[in-house]
Amino acid sequence: EKGTYPFYMLKEIDEQPAVLRTLINAYIQDGAYHIDADLLQAIQAADHLYIIACGTSYNAGWIGKKLLENWANIPTDVYLASEFAYDMPLLSARPFFIFLSQSGETADSRQALVEVNCMGAPSLTITNVKGSTLSREASYTLLLHAGPEIAVASTKAYTAQISVMALLAAALGNIPIQEIARDLGIVASTMESILAEKSRIQGWADSNLMETRNAFYIGRTSDYYVSMEAALKLKEISYIQTEAFAAGELKHGTIALIEEGTPVLALITDPVTGSHTRGNLEETKARGAQTMVISMEDTARDGDDFVIQSVRSELRPLVSVVVTQLIAYYTALGRGLDVDKPRNLAKSVTVE
Ligand code: F6R
Repeated sequence: EKGTYPFYMLKEIDEQPAVLRTLINAYIQDGAYHIDADLLQAIQAADHLYIIACGTSYNAGWIGKKLLENWANIPTDVYLASEFAYDMPLLSARPFFIFLSQSGETADSRQALVEVNCMGAPSLTITNVKGSTLSREASYTLLLHAGPEIAVASTKAYTAQISVMALLAAALGNIPIQEIARDLGIVASTMESILAEKSRIQGWADSNLMETRNAFYIGRTSDYYVSMEAALKLKEISYIQTEAFAAGELKHGTIALIEEGTPVLALITDPVTGSHTRGNLEETKARGAQTMVISMEDTARDGDDFVIQSVRSELRPLVSVVVTQLIAYYTALGRGLDVDKPRNLAKSVTVE
């Protein structure tokens, strides 16, 4: 039930810190990682991981790739299910497949799993729905424990997928338990402090996103992957044509689209590339863009629009995305749209 909330989407955004705490308690028990030892062994026996998914789950896959490569030290690639099923890459000798699906029923992902099962390769489904088709047909399942997600625009499933992949990568990489439990706990409380600042985010959306027909998110490295999700969220519920670009690519073409007043939102939580992204943002500003910067305490500069408390570098997507979910929500709300049921979309896509 959505109770006093006007829309499920806002309720589900608000639930994210609690979902994260549930996941910490589900996957860390009695001071040890609580993940099926057979699953960990099967992944360790692989020489390459293939993450396969659609939409928001696909976007989460890119963050998962970084976590699995950084912590578990296993090369990982990310594929759109609808492409993978019919245009399979040349696979490694010992592949392991990870399917990300909130519903566990997405037809494109299922078709890819059918192909994987034909090869006899091992697989894991990370899903919110126990007993779903993808869960039944994969070798292993990890649950998102996010509770029902009703709004068509996925929010808590994205952060839950990243959190489960973080815990999985940490277990595979033997990251000390206390460290990961502490750092994910800090993420949960940082999410709460963002959620306490909704009116500031609503104010920015109201002043900058009510009239525009298009908008851009830019970032580098993980900020670029979060930009992909931020852009999907904004476009699907506000109908503003929003695209995500790796900030360094702007000058190779996209900057031609910038006009007086075009909103360009920059995610700057990566200390290494932050100043480069700022340079790219300045170039759009010089051509009339209406810019917004979302940064973190250790990447912030005076005048940034939203500064998030610092969290562990690999986990930053879990907090920066919350700001962008709220931007999407308040933009759709301000435009008087049905936030939970955007036109032309269904919650579960059961046709290819
Ligand atoms: C966007 C959204 C979709 C889904 C996609 C995959 O907000 O919800 O892009 O992420 O249809 O769905 P699942 O994760 O159920 O396979």
